[in-house]
Amino acid sequence: MRIDIITVLPELLESPLGHSIIQRAQKKGLVEINLHPLRNFTHDKRKTVDDYAFGPDAGMVLKIEPIFEAIETLKSEREYDEIIYTSPDGEPMTQNLANQLSTKKNVLILCGHYKGIDHRVREHLITREISIGDYVLSGGELAAAIIVDSVVRLIPGVLSDETSALTDSFQDGLLAPPVYTRPAEFNGWKVPDILLSGNFKEIEKWQLEQAIERTKKLRPGLLDEER
Ligand code: ADE
Repeated sequence: MRIDIITVLPELLESPLGHSIIQRAQKKGLVEINLHPLRNFTHDKRKTVDDYAFGPDAGMVLKIEPIFEAIETLKSEREYDEIIYTSPDGEPMTQNLANQLSTKKNVLILCGHYKGIDHRVREHLITREISIGDYVLSGGELAAAIIVDSVVRLIPGVLSDETSALTDSFQDGLLAPPVYTRPAEFNGWKVPDILLSGNFKEIEKWQLEQAIERTKKLRPGLLDEER
């Protein structure tokens, strides 16, 4: 998979995408992530990427020309399955969407910034708009990092234990059951006996019961969601 990200602030993405699982996935050649500073697509001395919004509202808006040039340049090099814009008014990011995106070959992400981007970009160039939650961030970079992280870990071969993504929360519409490690007793607090029993069938049954119970208690809405 190849992911290209157009951003005003590449520095904000370098660290989250340069460590741990995402870094290993890149080293293994399972994903290629390229950051494209939007200022590289400007032609004035000051490398202007934003301008005042038309109308009475205060605030700066990302200009259409550098974004158009960035997207068209990348599109001339390969075909994109999705051109995503990160925005609080996009469709909600879910595990289901992460699964879908993890099967794509080329994905382009445009990070929003300041007050927004010229709406013509959204009308004519973007194929999908994604929100990571009902709150507003200062820019789309952190949202892009979260989207990329949730997608890349699902690419086959990225996680060392291939099945471990399948037991994640949300993957089967349920929250994950609790997990424990040694010592079996700490400070008088015990690990549930069942986990020490060695009876894998019973353990799996217990884990499913726990998953259902935790989902009912913490996120009951998940149980009604269509899948
Ligand atoms: N940009 C600002 N807030 C955002 C959000 N909640 N999701 C995606 N992009 C954003």
